[in-house]
Amino acid sequence: MGRLLPHHPSLLLLAAAAAAICISSSNLAAVRCTPVYRPDYLVDGNQLVDMQYHMGPVVSGSPTNLYLIWYGRWEPAAQAVLRDFLASLSASAPFPAVSDWWARTPRMYTDQTGANVTGAFAVAGEHSDAGYSHGASLRRADMQSVIRSAVYAYPDPLPLDPYSGAYLVLTSPDVQVDEFCRAVCGFHYFTFASVVGVTVPYLWVGNSATQCPGKCAYPFAAAEYGAGAGAGGGGGGGGGQAVLRPPNGDAGVDGMVIVLGHELAEMSTNPLVNAWYAGDTPTAPTEIADLCLGVYGDGGGAGGMVGNVSRAPDGSAYNVNGVNGRRFLVQWLWNPVRAACYGPNSSN
Ligand SMILES: *[C@@H]1O[C@H](CO)[C@@H](O)[C@H](O)[C@H]1NC(C)=O
Ligand SMILES: *[C@@H]1O[C@H](CO)[C@@H](O)[C@H](O)[C@H]1NC(C)=O
Repeated sequence: MGRLLPHHPSLLLLAAAAAAICISSSNLAAVRCTPVYRPDYLVDGNQLVDMQYHMGPVVSGSPTNLYLIWYGRWEPAAQAVLRDFLASLSASAPFPAVSDWWARTPRMYTDQTGANVTGAFAVAGEHSDAGYSHGASLRRADMQSVIRSAVYAYPDPLPLDPYSGAYLVLTSPDVQVDEFCRAVCGFHYFTFASVVGVTVPYLWVGNSATQCPGKCAYPFAAAEYGAGAGAGGGGGGGGGQAVLRPPNGDAGVDGMVIVLGHELAEMSTNPLVNAWYAGDTPTAPTEIADLCLGVYGDGGGAGGMVGNVSRAPDGSAYNVNGVNGRRFLVQWLWNPVRAACYGPNSSN
């Protein structure tokens, strides 16, 4: 988030920096992630962003069925926020809506069959794993086992839906995950037939409320990065961004919305890690949300600033509207037509 301007055409170095942090000390190098917040991701470069298509499919099922796995102990109020965000992807709401954000960027990506990324999602099943089937400390590879447990659960298994399904593993604040908070806030990948029975896209997002809100729920908590770094809001060299009030009153969950939006956009445009990404190497691809990390409005990206966003009557910050009168903050995404980071709250 260092020096990126939203319409700056030269972002490739950001890509390299973010990807390197995402994959460091991981034995699953190609797992795609939302990196933890750092003020120096976005670096001015001299190279053009080369967002390219690599011949693989995009997520185009209409609807695409989302299957939620609530891992750990979840509060109903937190679940309601995340369900409403997912419902908002394909529902109308006052402009700028979550569905405008989706329609104006991820939906603009196509694959070699001519199919666009879907504009229709349905939450088609939910599974509660409140008994921590694989413990309170998960390795990345365990995510596939968690999904396997859910689709073979007795008595209420989630459907195994290889044609139009995607699985979302959501971990509660007490669950530790390999590299969570140290390097990543979430990731997406696909299941292996040898583990789950089919190859199907999935993503994981963790609730960082107690473990590292300054890394994974920024800007709803003071930025925290590096050894001995000061708080955000002007401290620690992170720039002048003050902590923002979360639109649904829960920094951990509103932070998950940001990461979930990031991962959904990347999963949908690059589900098998062979469709849309920039950079030369498939083990360190830079995807459509990586390029715009930390940008939420006009003027965002420079010095850790989120950019121009709206304020609700209670002072909370948001840039899109959703169902049930909800408001959310989502990051901008790389728009292939504009060749720039973009969100529907942009003034141009
Ligand atoms: C599909 O993507 C193309 C290429 O970006 C775009 O022109 C078109 O409007 C998209 N279709 C829909 C329904 O969004
Ligand atoms: C942000 O909003 C203010 C007030 O509407 C406006 O004056 C300013 O130009 C905007 N900044 C950018 C970068 O668009």
